[in-house]
Amino acid sequence: MYGALLRDRGEGRVSEVTLYDLDAGRLSAVARVLAEQAAGEADPPEVSTTTDLDEALRGADFVFSAIRVGGLEGRAADERVALAEGVLGQETVGAGGIAYGLRTLPVADMIARRVAAVAPDAWFINFTNPAGLVTEAMSRRLGDRVIGICDSPVGLGRRVAHALGAQKPQEAWLDYAGLNHLGWLRGLRIDGRDELPRLLRDDGLLESFEEGRLFGAEWIRSVGAVPNEYLHYYYFNRETVRAYREARQTRGAFLRDQQARFYERMRDEAAPALKTWDGTRAEREATYMAENREAAGAGERDEASLTESGGYEKVALALMRAIARDERTTLILNVRNGTTLPNLDADAVVEVPCLVDGNGAHPVAVSPLEGHQAALVGAVKAVERQSLEAAASGSRSAAVAAFALHPLVDSVAVARRLVDAYREVHPGMGYLA
Ligand code: G6P
Ligand code: MN
Repeated sequence: MYGALLRDRGEGRVSEVTLYDLDAGRLSAVARVLAEQAAGEADPPEVSTTTDLDEALRGADFVFSAIRVGGLEGRAADERVALAEGVLGQETVGAGGIAYGLRTLPVADMIARRVAAVAPDAWFINFTNPAGLVTEAMSRRLGDRVIGICDSPVGLGRRVAHALGAQKPQEAWLDYAGLNHLGWLRGLRIDGRDELPRLLRDDGLLESFEEGRLFGAEWIRSVGAVPNEYLHYYYFNRETVRAYREARQTRGAFLRDQQARFYERMRDEAAPALKTWDGTRAEREATYMAENREAAGAGERDEASLTESGGYEKVALALMRAIARDERTTLILNVRNGTTLPNLDADAVVEVPCLVDGNGAHPVAVSPLEGHQAALVGAVKAVERQSLEAAASGSRSAAVAAFALHPLVDSVAVARRLVDAYREVHPGMGYLA
């Protein structure tokens, strides 16, 4: 994100950045990364650090928030506990995602209250996963001033446009809709023509990009749309659960160890802070899966740093620029539904194309979801609502309902055991009684 701010040469660019973290050691390590990025650049935004939330918020025009309650150790436990029950253990999807959400919601609510009190005019850009759920929780306090972002819809659009040979992929109109990590690209218009039918007819084109290979041409044709990569966890659930159970480590555990190595390295004053890791999420995940299948002790692995660039920074910068300069643009964002998806109520946060200007992000009309899409989105939104209710009331039975109603949790008995097991490993879930 700081790299994007550095490269931004436009009028009204960001001049001041405040980093906030609970952990002073982590703050200074990240500040060093930023200092290295800024070296040799003209007029880098000035950076300060604080462990005081109110101090960080005061006077801010924009707040970028990416927190991880319970740290990567918490994520590893989210994944491990679910997989031990034979259901999906993943950061944002299924049982693991619900556990992560239940831990995060009370903290997100506390932050929203501080923003409302200290920086009521700030625009709050939420990166924190599960992004749709967290954005919805915060919107109850901050209204439309909280906007959730994800790089996966725009990444999908870019890959499909590229596969179709679009001259200016960024100018294609994406008819994408759903919830965060649960959406479909149903059309892609270039010069007023929907080019998706041409893609769906052609196996070669379909299997020339990441999502096409992930789902296979035949299944994409059956669905009649290109699913977000995270739908793999639904459409190929059994296979993924099996593969994850066989892996030596969960993704969260892998990232925990990797980051621990990063912070360890940063204790050495002479070590360079910067190392980058590019590529799509699916590519990174494939690398991780391959690494996990290797025998333990198969030698040093490539170390990725905290500065991988998946495209989040481009979405965030474009959003901030459009709001700050009142320059109209369209971006796929997580915002309150209004009347966009008729199967959901107005306050439900959805992920849809939005017109962004100085007044914020306004969802635009999209074609309606197909029956199976609307049904899945409705079921997962109901799970999110149960999670919000559990977080607000501290009710264990609401938490059990959240797990039990999820399409990827196959028994109420499993849901009960999950709540018990999660409460045992997560201090952040002790509030459920
Ligand atoms: C994508 C998703 C994010 C996710 C990121 C990293 O960019 O949109 O929501 O945080 O991948 O996923 P990982 O499993 O590598 O932590
Ligand atoms: Mn995301």
